[in-house]
This record gives sequence, C-alpha cells and structure tokens, in this order.
Amino acid sequence: MDIKRIGIIGVGGIACGRHIPELIDVKDCKITAICDIDENRLKTVGDKLYIPEELRFTDYNDLINSPDVDAVEICTPNHLHVPIATAAVKAGKPVNIEKPLSINLAECEPLKCALKENPVKNMMSFTYRFMPAIRYAKWLLDKGLIGDVINVDVLYIKNSGFIKGRRLEWRFEKDKAGTGVLGDLGVHLIDMAELLTGKITAVSAVTDIVVKQRKRLDSEELANVETDDYCSFICDMENGAKGSFVISRCAIGHQGTVKFDVFGTKGIVSFDLNNPNVLNVCYGEVDLANENIHTVDVPQEFFTTQEAEFIKMLQGDSYDILPTIDDGLRSQKILDSILESAEKRCWIEI
Ligand SMILES: NC(=O)c1ccc[n+]([C@@H]2O[C@H](COP(=O)([O-])OP(=O)(O)OC[C@H]3O[C@@H](n4cnc5c(N)ncnc54)[C@H](O)[C@@H]3O)[C@@H](O)[C@H]2O)c1
Repeated sequence: MDIKRIGIIGVGGIACGRHIPELIDVKDCKITAICDIDENRLKTVGDKLYIPEELRFTDYNDLINSPDVDAVEICTPNHLHVPIATAAVKAGKPVNIEKPLSINLAECEPLKCALKENPVKNMMSFTYRFMPAIRYAKWLLDKGLIGDVINVDVLYIKNSGFIKGRRLEWRFEKDKAGTGVLGDLGVHLIDMAELLTGKITAVSAVTDIVVKQRKRLDSEELANVETDDYCSFICDMENGAKGSFVISRCAIGHQGTVKFDVFGTKGIVSFDLNNPNVLNVCYGEVDLANENIHTVDVPQEFFTTQEAEFIKMLQGDSYDILPTIDDGLRSQKILDSILESAEKRCWIEI
C-alpha cells in the first residue's frame, strides 16, 4: 500500500480540531512530522501522535526538507501560508493550505511563480466543499432542478468576538490576518457561492470593527483591533444572479449560524450548517399555496472528509470539486475587492 507521509506545520486550533483527527481516520497515511514555534504545543501534540523528537521542528523549512515527509499541511496564521507554501512547492512537495490563501493578492506572487515552475499537486482547505450537503447541492443545481438562479442569500454569524477576555490574537492584526471575520468565516461562503452559482463580478460592501481594542497576548496593555468584526456585501454574479452576504463575529445569541439559500426560478436549495447532512429543497411541482420546502437526507455517496480527499489527491484520485490554489487566488481577489469597496464606499468590479 502507498502510505503517504504527512508533515503538519502549525499545530494549533484547526490542525488539532480537524486535520489531525481526520488524517488519523484515513488508512493510507501517517503523520510523520510536525512543526510549531510554540514548544509546548509541539510537545503536547508530538507526544500524543508518538512523533519522534527528531521529527518535531520549530523551523518549517526543516519539516519541508525532511526525507520523511511526502506532503505538507499548512495550518499557521494567514500571513505565513504563502511563504510556507512557496518553500514547499519549490521543494516539490504537495500542499494542503488553510484558508484564506494570504493576507492580500499581491502577497501571493511568489507562490504563483513557484507553481508555474514546479506545478505540484495542491489543495486549499475550503472545508465546506467537503460537506455532504454542499456537494449534493452542487449536484442538484448542476442538473438545473431549481431553474435559473435569481439570488443567493448568505448568513454566517457568531458571538465569538464577544468572548470575555479574548485577547489580541493574530486574527485581530492586519499584517497577520489580512481580513477579519471576512477572511475567517466569509471566505468559505464566497468560495461556496462561486462553486454553486457562478462567478461574482462586482461587490458593494460595508465593514465594521465592533470591539475596537483588546489586551495584548503577553501584557495588560490595550491595543487597537485592525481587522473587521462585521462585513456585509451585495454582489452581481456572472449569470445575472445577485448575492447578499452578512458575516459577523459579534452576533449575540449565535454560536455559529450558517444559512445559505439559493433561490431559483423553479425552486430553492437551502443549507444550514447546524444540520450539514441534510438539505432543505423545493423543486419540481412547486405549490405556492402550500409551503412545500422539505428536508432531504444527503445520499451516502456524497459523504467524504477533507483529509480523505487530500490523501486521495496525493494518490492521483481527484475529488470532483477539489479546491486548489487557483480557487484560493480567486477568493483572495474577492476579499481584496470587498475591503476596497468598504474603504472607498463604492462598487468594485472584479
Ligand atoms: N478551514 C476551516 O474551517 C478553518 C477553521 C479555523 C481556522 N482555519 C485557518 O487555519 C489557520 C490556523 O488557524 P487556527 O485557528 O488553528 O490558529 P491557531 O492560532 O490556533 O494555530 C496556529 C498555530 O500556528 C503556529 N505558528 C505560528 N507561527 C508559526 C511558524 N512560523 N511556524 C510554525 N508554526 C507557527 C502557532 O504557534 C499555532 O500553534 C488560519 O489560516 C485559519 O484561517 C480554518
């Protein structure tokens, strides 16, 4: 059996919450090396995974160049995605990169150049693409079951910005995160909207920083929050459809509400993150007098996981809606345009 040896760079929240547990469930791979600048995390995760001391790194270049690593997962803060991915691509190692791809599109140039010279296999962790309901929604929409898309209506709201005592972690600093809640949560839905309904062609946005100051991580000093806590925008899409998005981490009463509705001329497809294995749909004999939106279970063939698909990709068996660096670049362009629109208070063509 072709066992893929995976190195993970950045073993914080998402590495431990998704990448590692999902990789453990995949037969044909082994996590052979990890890297983190936080030595405590390195030890805790290294011990848990029985990683030998010599394969626990604090410099990502050492992990990338290790002969015991076939492919690299990049789970660091956003500003490090491109430098690490560029180093991996130059070393000929396939990558799975967390979203958003970068802090802005201009920063992505070195990665684009490296990929041109050395086109290695690559994937972006647009996690929603691996959720059964989204894959099923794509299948239904591609069949034209709801007719022409009129609009997508998207809500992603949380109360996490109000967590008591939350400090000025990297997500609140522009040079490390690029965008705030927009790139943290919104980028998933932007990618989803383009996947399901077509390219976004113009945006008009507003953003806000709700909690203006937070204490630094290592002192009691207050410092300014530099990234958005709230973003809403409307958009035009290439097929004439319209979109409306509301994204917030300052929504009291919501621990994580994601609603994604696609309205068509003959029906609706509707996704709710709190119930990711079903879709709410209405198509066919639509009876306007009776609300006939019904819930359908997603068929088993649409079930998979992000990390299972990463390993399959390495083995040459590609997922039908695999997100790649090209999709990361595309959504980065949209993030940049949304911020520009909010700053200039005008429509931006993409
Ligand atoms: N796909 C998703 O649904 C999803 C969810 C959450 C986070 N994310 C993304 O994952 C990334 C990480 O987010 P997180 O919540 O895990 O953050 P985190 O702060 O919990 O973890 C980041 C880790 O990277 C380490 N790190 C920092 N600099 C490093 C360096 N130079 N070399 C090696 N390690 C370094 C940190 O010490 C930390 O352990 C972000 O890009 C975020 O947007 C994606």
